[in-house]
Amino acid sequence: MSDLILRQATSHDAPGISGVLQDLVLAGKRSKPADAGFAETHYVSHPGQIQCLLALDGDEVLGFQSLKQAVEGNPYGVPVGWGLIGKHIRPWAARRGVGRALFQETLKAARAAGLVAIDATIGVNNAEGLAYYRAMGFVDYRRIDGARCKSFTL
Ligand SMILES: CC(C)(COP(=O)(O)OP(=O)(O)OC[C@H]1O[C@@H](n2cnc3c(N)ncnc32)[C@H](O)[C@@H]1OP(=O)(O)O)[C@@H](O)C(=O)NCCC(=O)NCCS
Repeated sequence: MSDLILRQATSHDAPGISGVLQDLVLAGKRSKPADAGFAETHYVSHPGQIQCLLALDGDEVLGFQSLKQAVEGNPYGVPVGWGLIGKHIRPWAARRGVGRALFQETLKAARAAGLVAIDATIGVNNAEGLAYYRAMGFVDYRRIDGARCKSFTL
């Protein structure tokens, strides 16, 4: 996408992030919370957040990518020193290279933060998520209940 804008999220973007999550709920691709309060606390101002990067077309948030630091005792059991990644693109904006563009930019933030690797934990039935992370160079490194954990070594 030629006119794609990538920029860091601020608190003003919580409704836009929520809109992306709500579109995914409507498409049957998400069952977790999607309200603006969740977007604010879980992504924009989460204490472990390294980067919450938005992809926009004009003023519209097409998708975003979250990169968090894995801290001691994190609920995912990811080693300290790694990052935790999550990415969400509006269904109608999928497969246009938005996810790929976000990941290229996030790699810079991951390296700047001194991460040794990035974990992506994907539901076993999320074929597009698994295919996407495989295409970005992530490889399987463990399985947990209902999910495959993929890693990208920096
Ligand atoms: C998975 C997701 C993030 C991919 O984002 P995207 O912007 O559509 O991805 P891109 O267009 O940049 O695709 C990059 C590559 O990933 C692979 N890929 C992406 N979507 C795919 C799909 N549905 N089927 C097969 N491969 C796919 C392809 O190799 C693609 O390259 P290509 O189009 O040149 O063949 C997006 O579909 C999404 O948000 N899904 C719902 C939420 C989710 O599952 N997130 C992941 C878990 S956190």
